[in-house]
Amino acid sequence: MGEDIVLNNSLNKSAKYQSFIKQLDNLIAGEMDSIANIGNILSAIKYGFGHLWVGIYLIDDDQLVLNLFQGPIACTRITKGKGVCGQSWQKNEVIVVPDVDQFVGHISCSSASRSEIVLPLHDTFGQVIGVLDIDSEALNSFDSIDEEYLTIIAKLIEIEYAK
Ligand code: SME
Repeated sequence: MGEDIVLNNSLNKSAKYQSFIKQLDNLIAGEMDSIANIGNILSAIKYGFGHLWVGIYLIDDDQLVLNLFQGPIACTRITKGKGVCGQSWQKNEVIVVPDVDQFVGHISCSSASRSEIVLPLHDTFGQVIGVLDIDSEALNSFDSIDEEYLTIIAKLIEIEYAK
């Protein structure tokens, strides 16, 4: 059964994420299938927060390969160390880019993308398995509050891939 995620826009960003994560937990709690749950998580982030593109790249040898996503078609392969995604993987760090035009080596899959956040995803041993990439049509869309709560959401995704 489908359910809507309802976000009150009068809440501050932290409160919005807290409400969002509670609803996300409920959304995926009754379903064992990882693909179904990850697809719904990505859709909920994209449409809940109005982002341009929300998706996952998974590691295959020395490249990231496009995995589940919501939004316009995207680049399929990114080499380790290249672009924001490749650097997030290489450094095992969250990278917040306030203005993609100021990020040297940014890979432009869509000319509409203006700012982004990329979070590494890990297996149960703490090894990086890929990245969660979120792109916005607005400059300066992401800050430390997004990093804090998206890290929690990334853990939900990690649990799904570990199933
Ligand atoms: N922005 C990314 C490329 C992936 S697309 O935006 C979907 C980067 O520079 O790593």
